[in-house]
Amino acid sequence: MLSLIRRHLTRKQPKTAYEKMGGEPVVRAVAHRFYQLMASDSDYQDLLALHPQDLASSEEKLFEFLSGWLGGPPLFEQKYGHPMLRARHLPFRIDKRQRNLWLHCMKRALEAEVKDRQVRRAMLEALIPLADHMRNSEEGCPVRAGS
Ligand code: HEM
Repeated sequence: MLSLIRRHLTRKQPKTAYEKMGGEPVVRAVAHRFYQLMASDSDYQDLLALHPQDLASSEEKLFEFLSGWLGGPPLFEQKYGHPMLRARHLPFRIDKRQRNLWLHCMKRALEAEVKDRQVRRAMLEALIPLADHMRNSEEGCPVRAGS
């Protein structure tokens, strides 16, 4: 009986995505690289234009959100409550193009900071539907039916 309990206690838990990525330093590095790329590559200028001039707090919030979303400490939720990510993005016009730019920038940040290709791919695959969910505007269709 005792050995059964001991075995249960020492059984390895499956690693979270947060752990697989390398924990806080790597998640932090991804958020940093993401905003560094956004600020330095003119391809992302439309995305950058939606952000405050000082990107430090945007970077910190992205790190805090990713930390909890990946199964690590829920830092964003602890500070700001439920993420309600779509609602938080409603003040910004996000169409297919913005969504694509965001994902492109994130793909590059992951390539630069996450060594394991499979972990990188899994994270990007999980981010695609989330980024889709942020879309709140139809590209090329400023007039809606009924208006
Ligand atoms: C998987 C997709 C996304 C994630 C995980 C994400 C994450 C976040 C988080 C955590 C915040 C901070 C929210 C707050 O201020 O309380 C934020 C803000 C913001 N996001 Fe996203 N986002 C995503 C997609 C996008 C897309 C597609 C755009 C395209 C325009 C975008 C533009 C912005 C902007 C402009 C802000 C405000 C920045 C600020 O005021 O500091 N996000 N995002």
